[in-house]
Amino acid sequence: MRSPIIIALDVEDIKNAIRIVEELKDYVDIFKVGPVLFMKYGKTIIKEIKNLGKFVFLDLKFHDIPNTVKLAVKTLVEIDVDFATIHLSGGRNMVKEAVKASLDTNTKLLGVTVLTSISTEDLEEIGINTKLEEMVKNLAKIGIEEGISGIVCSPREIEIVRTLSKEVLIVTPGVRMEGENVQDQKRVLTPIEAIKRGANYIVMGRSILESENRTDKIKKCLEEVCLDKTNR
Ligand code: C5P
Repeated sequence: MRSPIIIALDVEDIKNAIRIVEELKDYVDIFKVGPVLFMKYGKTIIKEIKNLGKFVFLDLKFHDIPNTVKLAVKTLVEIDVDFATIHLSGGRNMVKEAVKASLDTNTKLLGVTVLTSISTEDLEEIGINTKLEEMVKNLAKIGIEEGISGIVCSPREIEIVRTLSKEVLIVTPGVRMEGENVQDQKRVLTPIEAIKRGANYIVMGRSILESENRTDKIKKCLEEVCLDKTNR
């Protein structure tokens, strides 16, 4: 079985990160590296995870002018990451250039809609009065029309994205087990609920990383999610 869980390696030290990959590699295929590890260890961390036979999701969420993002995506493709992210709010031209730079490569480009840590009030404060769900829909539509491989959204907006495309990959962070502390996340659901609603992958960070027994926790989570095989 391919695991629907992506582990967010949001830790500061490479030794700790590799220890986590080794601990969880029987249950997880894809490990997500963000700026915390990448700024310090660059290509080394990517190579080390790949040497353990796992896929790498490099989550740097590019958001810049089209030319800069195009060149940045080209670089990612060269270091052979399996998944990478851009912010869809960079606009259609930026998305178009980014997708072009990833075409016919091994890197699947994912477009981030609205961060799972953002609420309606946060959007209003920065002057965005469009409904949050509407904004997710508009952004996902741009990504899908431009041929992006996947959309990153909160589990609460999966159905909105699925109505736009049956094929696009849906990756959802903002996942917590029932009753767990949501920390800085605002739009969360449980793993089973995210899968039921149509997510291909769920991203789990602190919920697994900070647990006393990571293996037990991930096994429990996988069992829960796989009870609902019909939806995968
Ligand atoms: O620890 P937690 O499970 O909340 O981590 C979620 C991970 O997903 C983090 O690495 C964060 O950068 C990432 N992410 C997110 N919301 C998005 C896109 C990515 O939380 N919209």
